[in-house]
Amino acid sequence: MVKICCIGAGYVGGPTMAVIAVKCPAIEVVVVDISKPRIDAWNSDKLPIYEPGLDEVVKACRGRNLFFSTDVEKHVAEADIIFVSVNTPTKTRGLGAGKAADLTYWESAARMIADVSKSDKIVVEKSTVPVKTAEAIEKILTHNSKGINYQILSNPEFLAEGTAIEDLFKPDRVLIGGRETPEGRKAVQALKEVYAHWVPEENIITTNLWSAELSKLAANAFLAQRISSVNAMSALCEATGANVSEVSYAIGKDSRIGPKFLNASVGFGGSCFQKDILNLVYICECNGLPEVANYWKQVIKINDYQKSRFVNRVVSSMFNTVSSKKVAVLGFAFKKDTGDTRETPAIDVCKGLLGDKAHVSIYDPEVTEEQIQRDLAMNKFDWDHPMHLQPTSPSAIKQELDYQKIFDNMQKPAFVFDGRNVVDAEKLREIGFIVYSIGKPLDAWLKDMPAIA
Ligand code: NAI
Repeated sequence: MVKICCIGAGYVGGPTMAVIAVKCPAIEVVVVDISKPRIDAWNSDKLPIYEPGLDEVVKACRGRNLFFSTDVEKHVAEADIIFVSVNTPTKTRGLGAGKAADLTYWESAARMIADVSKSDKIVVEKSTVPVKTAEAIEKILTHNSKGINYQILSNPEFLAEGTAIEDLFKPDRVLIGGRETPEGRKAVQALKEVYAHWVPEENIITTNLWSAELSKLAANAFLAQRISSVNAMSALCEATGANVSEVSYAIGKDSRIGPKFLNASVGFGGSCFQKDILNLVYICECNGLPEVANYWKQVIKINDYQKSRFVNRVVSSMFNTVSSKKVAVLGFAFKKDTGDTRETPAIDVCKGLLGDKAHVSIYDPEVTEEQIQRDLAMNKFDWDHPMHLQPTSPSAIKQELDYQKIFDNMQKPAFVFDGRNVVDAEKLREIGFIVYSIGKPLDAWLKDMPAIA
């Protein structure tokens, strides 16, 4: 029986390993983590993350060939294939701070693997890492190897939160990079055989290590760039009277452009896009390519611009101040069908409103009040002007929203600002709301109150 161990039981490690276990009953999969609460949650009825379909997959194989444990060293020592899926956040201090990936967790995982291994291992990079990380990992492992043979593979994960299980069951492609040596090819083949249990062979791409590592950063940069492109257009749409949904539809019909990922919004969030682009920018700079670095930096600048543009629109519409005004924020996670709030644009929007002293009530069915409080307190804010953050009463808005009732209870003029173009703006206008839909022609009121951005 092949034994797999995955270090890191997070958004990637948990779902990917659960899917491998369910698709490969003859493989024993153990997911390990240094965080006991996380492992306890994986072993409980309330999993630590929300993903549609995840509960069913975990329940189908947990205790059979899928296990979650904090005994990291034991399971690493016993494994044939070790996936490393630890977090690789942006460095906050030291060389490359604010851009480079922080590989502290990765390095300590690699050193631990070297310490406890007694048999040959295939070590798989599942985390998103800078190009050439495999070389560094290889050095750590081989300099401490005690005669053990290590093969490092890059197998970046392309799942999207909110559709992780669907993406893992039917991936567009699985990418495996390895050394172009006989041992390297053998290791690639071994990992390929795992995926071949359910992924068609033509969808499993094999490349050299550096192409695989860079492809992950490139994919996220391209995806984020599409969002920034359409968001940049949304600003122009508002200025000219064009409708961004119509523009997106029209350009998406061009088969070279395609219809996906063209929805204007208040900006992208999540733990990956910004982090990976910053990482890409840093790598470009380190390789003496400032023009390329600046090109990708602009994707993040537009994203920041879009978030502040949204806040400015809200504030300017309400006579240039939201001080003491009650604002209900519906949705806080970075997108639907997830409880993940890492880098969610909602943080910037809420902080912007709180900075102008609004009374903000926030509700998201997948995010706890403590998490929201933590997210909003994370950075410096003005201690002299404490925030007015009020918990919402979920029951009031958990059900289908009764906009007429909401309108009746609001001060007039009453506003709805739609950062995702999800509400029926015309219906709300009939009720009497002033509605702002991102990238759509502006109500007369909003036209007269231009955003200050
Ligand atoms: P996460 O923060 O949810 O999970 C990482 C886990 O690793 C944590 O539970 C942490 O306790 C554990 N950990 C850290 N150091 C450890 C060590 N030395 N030994 C054992 N456990 C350790 O992170 P997430 O979101 O799962 O991301 C992991 C990697 O996958 C990152 O590099 C990320 O960029 C990448 N990725 C994330 C995607 C996502 O949608 N979240 C998608 C594709 C890639």
